[in-house]
Amino acid sequence: MKGVLLSGGTGSRLRPITHTGPKQLVPVANKPVLQYAIEDFKEAGITEIGVVLGNKGREEVQQFLGDGSEFGVDITYIVQGNPLGLAHAIGCARDFVGDDDFVTVLGDNILKQGIHELVDSYREGEYSAGIALQEVDNPHQFGIADVDDRGTVQHLVEKPDDPPSNLALIGIYAFSPVIFDIIEELTPSWRGELEITDALQILLDRGHSVDSHVVTGWWKDTGKPEDILEANRLVLEQHSGSVSGTIESGAEVQGRVDLHETATIRDGAVVRGPVSIAAGTVIESGTYIGPYSSIGADSTIEGAHIENSVIVGESKITTTGKIVDSLIGRGTNIESADGILPEGRRLVVGENSKLKL
Ligand code: TTP
Repeated sequence: MKGVLLSGGTGSRLRPITHTGPKQLVPVANKPVLQYAIEDFKEAGITEIGVVLGNKGREEVQQFLGDGSEFGVDITYIVQGNPLGLAHAIGCARDFVGDDDFVTVLGDNILKQGIHELVDSYREGEYSAGIALQEVDNPHQFGIADVDDRGTVQHLVEKPDDPPSNLALIGIYAFSPVIFDIIEELTPSWRGELEITDALQILLDRGHSVDSHVVTGWWKDTGKPEDILEANRLVLEQHSGSVSGTIESGAEVQGRVDLHETATIRDGAVVRGPVSIAAGTVIESGTYIGPYSSIGADSTIEGAHIENSVIVGESKITTTGKIVDSLIGRGTNIESADGILPEGRRLVVGENSKLKL
């Protein structure tokens, strides 16, 4: 079985972060989102992975993943170019997949329990596809599956007025290569994309058997800034904390903190976990880093009060103001303006920005 990781797309909902880089490389708990998918593939025993690239951020993704050996997998790159839809992206992987079954994961999704249960369930039967489902409270806003008591899919319906279930499709699919012929027959939907739900519906209409697996742990699509922050919270919540860096005497560190061996928390700084602090970063005296914050590599934080935020890295933050619920792009410099404003700021800041707060 092979893996197909979708890492194209526009990422328009994550602007300005995605003006300068692909959303799949935005870090969650100091690890790029797509690395979670690579690790999930590996855990499910899938090491031959095709990574589908769009137009934007191709080099960055290739630079980060390389040939995959650093992650214990073997990566082949496939260029989709313009984002013409999930089914189109999958179709681009036809030569790579050949006659194998394969699993497709969206490169901006993270799920707690990985993909091995879906993979096992699909492998156990004679299916042409397998889909991951999750119970949702608002089924009329999702693609919904109607399944029988053995989990075999009966039909799919997009944003139904009268939902047959509350089981929504999430972005993990297993396929046999039969899907490629169907993708070739697809025509663009109203939004101009080749839709994977249309391909699945054709499979069902032609009498193919489609398996489903209900994911009970959390699943997060990190398409928007608030989703990144929530994913960051969920992942940090699972961390048990591991301090290998330097905590100077006089620093106050509470709760679960991941501190890289080359990171430092100085005398007079306060860090309350769950928090992740990456390589080469210094938390200077007078700084407060509060729960659910991830501070990326090679950054200096001096005097700020930061909570529930993701600082991508290579940033210098010397404002004495409060930064909460924020996503701060790489290479950002935030300093104090004259006449400091004491209340919290919520920011989504793109790469290489300069701010005075
Ligand atoms: P989406 O989040 O649905 O689309 P997008 O990346 O264009 O984002 P936005 O809506 O904010 O503009 O994509 C889900 C995943 O699939 C994501 O990892 C990108 C990937 N993708 C492709 O690889 N090719 C495509 O044609 C599309 C639409 C998405």
